[in-house]
Amino acid sequence: MLAYGRQERPGACDGFASNAMPGFCILAGPLPGAVQEDVIMSRRRQIYEGKAKILYEGPEPGTIIQYFKDDATAFNAQKRGTINGKGVINNRISEYVFTRLAHIGIPTHFIRRLNMREQLVRQAEIIPIEVVVRNIAAGSISKRLGIEEGEPLPHTLIEYYYKDDALGDPMIAEEHIACFGWASNEEMQDISSMAIRVNDFLCGMFAAINISLVDFKLEFGRIWDGDYSRVILADEISPDGCRLWDMTTGEKLDKDRFRRDLGGEEEAYQEVARRLGLLENDGGPSEVFDLGAHRKLRGKK
Ligand SMILES: Nc1ncnc2c1ncn2[C@@H]1O[C@H](COP(=O)(O)OP(=O)(O)OP(=O)(O)O)[C@@H](O)[C@H]1O
Ligand SMILES: [Mg+2]
Repeated sequence: MLAYGRQERPGACDGFASNAMPGFCILAGPLPGAVQEDVIMSRRRQIYEGKAKILYEGPEPGTIIQYFKDDATAFNAQKRGTINGKGVINNRISEYVFTRLAHIGIPTHFIRRLNMREQLVRQAEIIPIEVVVRNIAAGSISKRLGIEEGEPLPHTLIEYYYKDDALGDPMIAEEHIACFGWASNEEMQDISSMAIRVNDFLCGMFAAINISLVDFKLEFGRIWDGDYSRVILADEISPDGCRLWDMTTGEKLDKDRFRRDLGGEEEAYQEVARRLGLLENDGGPSEVFDLGAHRKLRGKK
């Protein structure tokens, strides 16, 4: 199994590795069963509200709760709306994907899902870089470089964007990351090799349910163990941050339905969950997903 590196805390003394981070042991495994949801609910404090999620203090130091909202934004939050039930589906899909990635040795922040909209995760120091992995041209790369949408790329591309809403998350080169110290060279090696492994795994996982993984965005964070840190996969993996196309029809099953006013976004997110086998009361893979019929029902051509 691949081992991802540990980084020494800047300025730490050689040979002195303190393990005195209170509550850190909880991060190694599941929480004790005695931690009840009502306790979590009553004690928690909001840490941050983002566009798609709210973060609350977790029940133990070093943990946080991610609450998945139905709010949807696009084009750096210039377009805002709601996709009914999105938070519930993204919570479930992200749980599933992170659990499967953990099984192939990718270190992640995921601890466990708490309820329909919340999951308990390890608190990380988020590395301010959005890592975008592309297999097929779509979205900004098509616009920027004039490559037709749907054109398979000669090989998988990794792009980096600086996480800063005020600047519109500008694209950056690895040189910027090194120059401004956003991540070390060793951390970037771990990040890029994890991104490729995640891509290989997810391409296969989605291909098995007749979906092409066109591109997706990852976020990574640092967790500290005494004077050493390591990089883990954080945030979420869901149709909000992936482009997923049906392999037969080319139908978009992701947030582009919202971005481009295509309609049927709730059904598309549900369809991804259904094909992954995550929907309760699922009748099995019998019916064919028909977005055309759905659009007619909504009075669209
Ligand atoms: N394990 C983690 N520890 C700490 N912060 C995390 C962790 N996982 C994700 N986050 C951060 O939590 C926030 C999630 O909220 P949301 O996805 O709504 O943010 P956002 O509006 O997309 O904003 P941002 O531009 O910061 O990503 C993000 O800022 C993300 O970087
Ligand atoms: Mg986000």
